[in-house]
Amino acid sequence: MSGIKVFAPATVGNIGVGFDIMGVALERPGDEVVASKSATPGVRITKITGAGGKLPYDPEQNTAGVAAIRLLEFLGASSQGIELEIHKKMPIGSGLGSSAASAAAAVLAVSEVLRTGLSKRELLPYAAMGERLVSGGIQLDNVAPSLLGGVMLARDNETFDVHRLHAPRGLYMTVVHPHMTLMTREVRASLSQGLSLEQHVRQNANLAGFIIGMYNADIALLGRSLQDVIIEPQRAGFVPGFYDVKNAAMDAGALGCSISGAGPSVFALCPNSLVAENAGREMQRAFAAVKLESTVYLSPINQEGAVVC
Ligand code: HSE
Repeated sequence: MSGIKVFAPATVGNIGVGFDIMGVALERPGDEVVASKSATPGVRITKITGAGGKLPYDPEQNTAGVAAIRLLEFLGASSQGIELEIHKKMPIGSGLGSSAASAAAAVLAVSEVLRTGLSKRELLPYAAMGERLVSGGIQLDNVAPSLLGGVMLARDNETFDVHRLHAPRGLYMTVVHPHMTLMTREVRASLSQGLSLEQHVRQNANLAGFIIGMYNADIALLGRSLQDVIIEPQRAGFVPGFYDVKNAAMDAGALGCSISGAGPSVFALCPNSLVAENAGREMQRAFAAVKLESTVYLSPINQEGAVVC
């Protein structure tokens, strides 16, 4: 039966100062999901590639499967047969929003194959329910930009109150993935539940400065604001050589550098592609100094999000 193939991009969650509420979509890498109608009722995952055998075929244990099932339930179409193929084109447990991308691709592919007419915004809750399987809660900082594109800010994760930030032209992202894995749920479990008033004030000021910098295309303000005083210090120890990698990015001219999602990937926000290339090379060198091979991804901000391809 003919299917629909959807690409959904990798994302950088938090962007340092927006823990659990702000994320950005990349042009590449990304995942692909193919959805087809089937005569057998329910959701079945028939093929997974690129995951090295690490992802379950049981749809209730798979982010794409859960997202598709919740969408069918909402549509009152749980007996509809759907087959999913999942093609992972990015590393799992990397901090690149891999599970969110698969969930985002799945809901759009299922929606398109069933011709629901739902908008991507209307599909967001079902993609989020899929992603919840691995992160343990509803955080939209990966799934919203993967589905909708751009830099997305979630005012409230529970009510899916998400907003796109203006992004100045020319900004470039460098993301360096050291070849190791961190599991989001475990890294999150080690976070302190408390913070000082001073941390709260500084982080709020930095997030506000970041948003103003984006709207006013004030590149210097973006640089001054991209300083995470709460989460990064708690997670740096999970990423070998993190501060050397960060220094390498900053020395190469990055506006800011921090941990992508729950890590271990590290991102640098750059004013242009040349700085991004140089930062990537130097960050990779710094990882090599602690005996970690890595992959560099360079990308402008992806404004489209998930697309039928
Ligand atoms: N914002 C999350 C974190 C990413 O940093 O743990 C996964 O949702």
